[in-house]
Amino acid sequence: MFGEGPRRARIMLVGEQPGDQEDLTGHPFVGPAGRLLDQALAEAGVDRQDVYVTNVVKHFKWEPRGKRRIHKKPRASEIAACRPWLDTEIALVRPEAIVCLGATAAQALLGRSFRLTAHRGLFVDSALAPLVLATVHPSAILRAPDAETRHRETARFVDDLRLVAGRLS
Ligand code: URA
Repeated sequence: MFGEGPRRARIMLVGEQPGDQEDLTGHPFVGPAGRLLDQALAEAGVDRQDVYVTNVVKHFKWEPRGKRRIHKKPRASEIAACRPWLDTEIALVRPEAIVCLGATAAQALLGRSFRLTAHRGLFVDSALAPLVLATVHPSAILRAPDAETRHRETARFVDDLRLVAGRLS
């Protein structure tokens, strides 16, 4: 599945891979993580219509659990196989800012030694775009153990998105 958004979007958000609902509908970030993302973008004052949303891996990798399809982490070889599509999306859109959502996207784009715990929410030097930053994946927020943690993590996520929006020229 390809990304979606305006050809000249100033912000590109890069996730890991489509989930169950994305796979069924053919659109990125339309499931639970997508709804959280929409809410966070709105709170950060960013219109999703102005954002190009994509993933490092273009297919949904899953394993069956009963009737459900459960997300499975992609292998490095799958990330590498999909890389030409992502590079082409970046080359065509030429976003001013790239936001990596989660460690898989961050390590795919910024190197295997990139540590989200250490560099989350910080701009990093990269040839990919003038502004590049990694933050958590909205799915990680949804997995928070309690409502308080979820609220706090959502607020930090919104802060990261707001930081990026505020730095656009
Ligand atoms: N998670 C992702 O990383 N990407 C999607 O498109 C949906 C959920």
